[in-house]
Amino acid sequence: MSEQLILAGPEATDALGRQLAEALKALPAARVCIYLHGELGAGKTSLARGLLRGYGHSGRVPSPTYTLVEPYNCGGRAIYHLDLYRLQHATELEYLGIDELALPGAVLLIEWPEQGGNHLVPPDLEVFLAISGENRACRMQARTPTGSSVLAAMTA
Ligand SMILES: Nc1ncnc2c1ncn2[C@@H]1O[C@H](COP(=O)(O)OP(=O)(O)O)[C@@H](O)[C@H]1O
Ligand SMILES: [Mg+2]
Repeated sequence: MSEQLILAGPEATDALGRQLAEALKALPAARVCIYLHGELGAGKTSLARGLLRGYGHSGRVPSPTYTLVEPYNCGGRAIYHLDLYRLQHATELEYLGIDELALPGAVLLIEWPEQGGNHLVPPDLEVFLAISGENRACRMQARTPTGSSVLAAMTA
């Protein structure tokens, strides 16, 4: 588990997302699945937004609360932002075609992964966000060699 980072204000969450984007650019061919954990308002969508901005997406980044998944194409790389908060049954993920999204080179950012049960792609990296007074706290845990490479590229 990484050191706990204190993200002092929304700009810090955005900056961490951008830093993650830079690390992902160093691994263009890898399929990277990132779980974003944390209570409502912890900054999961903000982090995903920073990552997408860092990857060059300049349009809107709506929360996928109702659509479940928002697809992006950032310079040829497929990035899928999911929010499973409103998923009724983990089996709905099959209708969503979750396995087809998890192709080589794709990046999956998944809010509320707990809702997906064991139908979900396993994570390469888990990010844990929490409300900490006016700020947010963040820890990251690599779960695969790919996840470790992302973390290494962030600190490099
Ligand atoms: N580091 C931070 N410090 C204070 N507020 C933050 C920070 N990061 C994000 N926020 C704010 O928290 C609110 C909720 O963020 P959001 O990303 O929608 O949370 P979640 O997706 O986890 O429900 C937003 O208003 C956002 O600007
Ligand atoms: Mg959200």
